[in-house]
Amino acid sequence: MKLLVLNGPNLNLLGSREPEQYGTETYEDLCRQIRRHADALGVEVTILQSNHEGTLVDLIQEALGVYDGIVLNPAAYTHTSVALLDALKAVRIPTVEVHISDVTKREAFRQVSYVREACIATVAGHGFRGYLEAMDLLLAAGSHA
Ligand code: DQA
Repeated sequence: MKLLVLNGPNLNLLGSREPEQYGTETYEDLCRQIRRHADALGVEVTILQSNHEGTLVDLIQEALGVYDGIVLNPAAYTHTSVALLDALKAVRIPTVEVHISDVTKREAFRQVSYVREACIATVAGHGFRGYLEAMDLLLAAGSHA
């Protein structure tokens, strides 16, 4: 099984960015935890990050035929991007939406997720562990396919 972990804008700044929301661990720490979990699960993982909406659309399109599942934290584009929703609908790769913070308890504009309807599940507010839970969910979904 091959998983793609895709991170949106500003997540490269984890560790220094709004630590009260996102903690003090860095993006590299996150990648290390994801790789370790992939090894434990026996799955292949590719981790990518972009600050650009169009690049994220390209990466979702290019995932078709390559990856069996996507863990997606679209960051701010969660709340704005019909293009990401359409890309997910086009490729139909099982996707889990992840947010480090609990977006349900934050500003009203963060209550909207355009991508959610194309995702099999959403994990929010579990910190970095949410990425690992999303991987577990994709594995479980894959084994039932
Ligand atoms: C986020 C939540 C979004 O609202 C925000 O724009 C982010 C990160 C999260 O992981 O909690 O950049 O997706």
